[in-house]
Amino acid sequence: MTANNTPTKRYALAERTIDENDIAELIDWLRANPQLTQGPLVKEFEATWSAWLGRKYSVFVNSGSSANLVMYYALLLAGRLKNNKVVVPAASWATTVAPAIQLGFEPIMCDSDWQTFGLDLAHLEQLCEEHDPGAVIVVQTLGVPGNMDGLLALKAKYGFVLMEDACPATGATYKGKKVGSFGDLATFSFYFGHHLSTIEGGMVSTDDEQLHDILLHIRSHGWAKDISPEKEAELAREHGALPFNRIFTFYYPGFNVRNTDLQARIGLSQMRKADWVCARRVQNQRRYEERLSGVSSLHIPANPDGVTCSISFVALAETSHQRDAIAAGLRANHIETRPLGGGSMGRQPFWTERFGARSYPVADAIHTRSFMLPNNPDISLSDVDFICDVVLSVIAEQKAA
Ligand SMILES: Cc1ncc(COP(=O)(O)O)c(C=O)c1O
Repeated sequence: MTANNTPTKRYALAERTIDENDIAELIDWLRANPQLTQGPLVKEFEATWSAWLGRKYSVFVNSGSSANLVMYYALLLAGRLKNNKVVVPAASWATTVAPAIQLGFEPIMCDSDWQTFGLDLAHLEQLCEEHDPGAVIVVQTLGVPGNMDGLLALKAKYGFVLMEDACPATGATYKGKKVGSFGDLATFSFYFGHHLSTIEGGMVSTDDEQLHDILLHIRSHGWAKDISPEKEAELAREHGALPFNRIFTFYYPGFNVRNTDLQARIGLSQMRKADWVCARRVQNQRRYEERLSGVSSLHIPANPDGVTCSISFVALAETSHQRDAIAAGLRANHIETRPLGGGSMGRQPFWTERFGARSYPVADAIHTRSFMLPNNPDISLSDVDFICDVVLSVIAEQKAA
C-alpha cells in the first residue's frame, strides 16, 4: 500500500546536517595550513557550546560514547560517590550502560516512564530505598525531556550524583531550560544525523571546576597539558615532577578520546545554525504529534512541561505484529524505520549474560513495539504528512482486515 501510489522520494532516518557552506568553510580553513590535531578551535567550540547550553565548562571528545565513558570515570576519580552503585535506564543505549560494567560499578536497572520514556521515578525511588546508589544516569530519550523536577527532588532526598545522557536530545527543553543543564555532568553526541554533527564527536558539560579539570586530564592520556598553567605548575610541585619531564607527567590513568580541530571547525559552523536546526526538528515533531497522537492504537511519549526536539519521531504500536506491518508499509514507501535505540538494555546479551533476564514492562514495550520516523531539518511538513498518511493507512488496513 502506498499513500499516493507513486513514491519517488527516499526518507532516511539520519541525514547530513553538514551542508555545502560548512564544507566550503572547511576547505578554506584547510588551505590555510592550520593545526589539525586538538588545538585552539577545540577550545573555541567548547566555549561556544557551553554558552549556547548555559553551562560553565565543556570538553570535546571523539564520540557521545566516549563522553559517557569519561563522565563516569571523572566521578570515580573525583571520589564523589558514596558507593559504586549506579542506576541505569533500561531503555537507553549500549554505551549509556557499558561504562558502568567497564569501570567496575554495580549497575542497577530502572524501568522507563510511560509518558516520557525517561526514568520511571516510582521505580527509581524504590531502587534508592533498596540500594542507596551513589549515582544515577538518566537518558533524555530521543529528545523528550524527562520529569526533571521529580528527578532532582529524588536527587536531593537520596543524595546521588546525577549523570545526564542528552546524546539524542540537543535543543530539547524542560520548563524553558535546555536538557543537558540538569545533571552534575551531561553528555551529547555529534554523530552523523544527530541534531548537529561533527561526523563523529561528543561533548561532556558541567559547572563543576574539579570535574572539568579531571575530564581534561583523562581525555588526553592523563597528562596535565590542557589544564591551566598555574594548576599544572601546582601539580608538578606537589608531585616533584622533573622540569624536563613535566610535559609527560601523568596524574590520572587516562584515555585518548580527543577530537581534532578539523572536527571542531565543522562544529563551529554547525553552531551557527543550531537554533534553526532545532526549531525545524521541533516543528516536524509537533506535526507528527498533531497527526498521530489521537490514534488510539499508537502511544507517543511527550512531556507537557517541555519541548521535544528529536532526531527521529518515536511511537509505540499496539502490538509487535502491528509494528512490523507499519515498518513494512514504511519500507514499501522508501521510508526508513528502526526500533528506538536498542530498545531495552535489559534484553541485550551484554546485560543478560552478566545479570540475567528480568522484565521491565515499559522498556519491554519500547523494545517490542517502538518504531522511529524520520525527522531531519530538511524534511518539510508535507513530507511529515506523507509519512503519517502511510502509517495511518497501514493501521486502517489492519483494522479493516
Ligand atoms: C542515549 C545515547 N547515548 C549515547 C549515544 C552514543 O553516541 P555516539 O554514537 O556519538 O557514540 C547514543 C547514540 O545515539 C545515544 O542514543
